[in-house]
Amino acid sequence: MTKAISAQGLVKSFGDVQALNGIDLEVEQGSVVGLLGPNGSGKTTIVRILTTLLNADSGTASVSGFDVQSQPDDVRSVIGLTGQYAAVDQYLTGRENLELFGRLFHLSKRDAATRADELLDRFALSDAADRGIKGYSGGMRRRLDLAASLIGRPSVLFLDEPTTGLDPRSRQGMWDVIQSLVAEGTTVLLTTQYLEEADQLASSIVVLDHGNVIAKGTSDELKNQVGGDRIELVVSNAADSLRAATVLAPFGSAQATVDEDAKRVLVPVAGGSNAIVDAIRALDEASIAITDIALRRPTLDDVFLSLTGRITEEDQAPKAPKSGRRSRRGGN
Ligand SMILES: Nc1ncnc2c1ncn2[C@@H]1O[C@H](COP(=O)(O)OP(=O)(O)O)[C@@H](O)[C@H]1O
Ligand SMILES: [Mg+2]
Repeated sequence: MTKAISAQGLVKSFGDVQALNGIDLEVEQGSVVGLLGPNGSGKTTIVRILTTLLNADSGTASVSGFDVQSQPDDVRSVIGLTGQYAAVDQYLTGRENLELFGRLFHLSKRDAATRADELLDRFALSDAADRGIKGYSGGMRRRLDLAASLIGRPSVLFLDEPTTGLDPRSRQGMWDVIQSLVAEGTTVLLTTQYLEEADQLASSIVVLDHGNVIAKGTSDELKNQVGGDRIELVVSNAADSLRAATVLAPFGSAQATVDEDAKRVLVPVAGGSNAIVDAIRALDEASIAITDIALRRPTLDDVFLSLTGRITEEDQAPKAPKSGRRSRRGGN
């Protein structure tokens, strides 16, 4: 079967900046691939090359079997793109925006109106359809932007950081919408800085760093590389540390780590939130008092630390905070 997306050895530099160092990518039809990486790792550059907005310096790529360089019109006819920043017109209403996109896709006036209606309804924007989008919330903007990219019924959809900057509730709303598209068989390539987002949406994840693919796999495979989920607990009495580790051993997926001085016990677990409920019950039955217990899930930073031996740059050398700067850790 033709791959939805296929790329070999993509290289791109901007002046002195080597944005991509030879990217290979294969995406099966109907699957969701997440490109996961920190700011500046090359995510948007890959999306721009695959969507014909930018030529690679070398390497080849095709979408639905069409070469991005020699058959750009064919590529454009099968894709949808939602950029990192909303591409809709500020001064039009939601409905006018979607009708405009429909006309750009050569739909008749009537078909454009029908399609706009369908999409407004589907993305819970019907009530706001005739308001100028200047007054839309961030989440509504993103949904409208996604709706616009679906006008032409694309078979391959590119979403560049679809939820960056959204509050948790709007983020969940976008996730639901994306999941429903996937259920209909649309192939999705999404970029994200959040392991949790890739985890929720993507069947396979490609981790990028400085224009290189540094890991590929399912979310579970990546998390297992960093040791997966773990329960971290602090016992009230140092003397209980070892006993706690013994009590929790049946729930652990690997050897526990005990720091008696810090009264801290780390237990790798497979069962996620069920494991913590079982653990609390077992500790209680053994009369072991604790001052703190938490389930720690690996974050992008943990994956990065494990893969590269360093934390992501933004954290390493914090810049002066800019207003509106987003936190990679926050909100999820
Ligand atoms: N048009 C451009 N001109 C110069 N440098 C660019 C341009 N686009 C991207 N870059 C650089 O290429 C690298 C990768 O950028 P990008 O693909 O936007 O990363 P990401 O989307 O992962 O944040 C960064 O170092 C960025 O500064
Ligand atoms: Mg980007």
